[in-house]
Amino acid sequence: MKRHLISAADLTRDDAILVLDTAEEMARVADRPIKKLPTLRGRTVVNLFFEDSTRTRISFEAAAKRLSADVINFSAKGSSVSKGESLKDTALTLEAMGADAVVIRHHTSGAPHRLANSGWINGSVVNAGDGTHEHPTQALLDAFTMRRHLSGTGRDLAGRRITVVGDILHSRVARSNVLLLNTLGAEVTLVAPPTLLPIGVENWPCEISYDLNAVLAKSDAVMMLRVQRERMNAAFFPTEREYARRYGLDGTRMACLPEHAIVMHPGPMNRGMEITAEVADSPRCTAVEQVKNGVSIRMAVLYLLLGGAAPAVTGPAVTHARTEENQ
Ligand code: NCD
Repeated sequence: MKRHLISAADLTRDDAILVLDTAEEMARVADRPIKKLPTLRGRTVVNLFFEDSTRTRISFEAAAKRLSADVINFSAKGSSVSKGESLKDTALTLEAMGADAVVIRHHTSGAPHRLANSGWINGSVVNAGDGTHEHPTQALLDAFTMRRHLSGTGRDLAGRRITVVGDILHSRVARSNVLLLNTLGAEVTLVAPPTLLPIGVENWPCEISYDLNAVLAKSDAVMMLRVQRERMNAAFFPTEREYARRYGLDGTRMACLPEHAIVMHPGPMNRGMEITAEVADSPRCTAVEQVKNGVSIRMAVLYLLLGGAAPAVTGPAVTHARTEENQ
């Protein structure tokens, strides 16, 4: 593994499988009465969030705490950033505090890359979503969820057919998923109105379709994406009703999926827009499970970037509890 996780493309197939396998071990810890491991005791993880987040921020915090790291949560709102402080000065402050890892979400694409390659900090940088660019840990938790569900899947996702639907243009989730799923051998089809596809998408390692109905029957998983109004400065489709009619997933469309297929959504969902409440609340929808899996994936990522050679999980929870008491 590289020192930083900025892009899903930073992961080789072996790296990605190592993260997924390690996350399986971490998931077993979550089922124990005591959900904590001593692995990152004495290490400091800073969550640096310049953009709103519910799931991702809480997930990284829970992951770091379950590994016994010290966690510092920084959100731009209410900090010196609103007084005009630069990313550099914020980074130098974090370095002075001795951050071993910085988890960063930023509204500007490329901010995590800048932080990782600037020399301002010595620790590992993990991209928790930058602008419309990438969100590699989301792609990892999505792959983890797919690997668990799709029967006959081995350690990778070779030959699995994944359809990603919606606002691809503004979606860092879509970009990271296309890259990682390609690394893991899956076949990805993107479905969106032409106005919501980025320039150069024809060079991405995937197929493009404008017809959702045509691809559903041959999908093992369909991932619905939110229409990101906060990033839109123009009208990308005529009306919400028109969008939902052509690109939304409702019960009738869901019935066209093969029996084993799952419906995914990274959240937050716009019920009634890209997904109906009926689909969102159906047992085939893995949205809540994806959130749960996110903690295991982020534990695995933090462990692999910071943990060194010691095994992540050793023995049952009772052993750890006793060890902690004795120290
Ligand atoms: C996504 C994000 O922030 O990129 N959500 C997430 O991390 N779970 C997708 C979105 O905002 O629609």
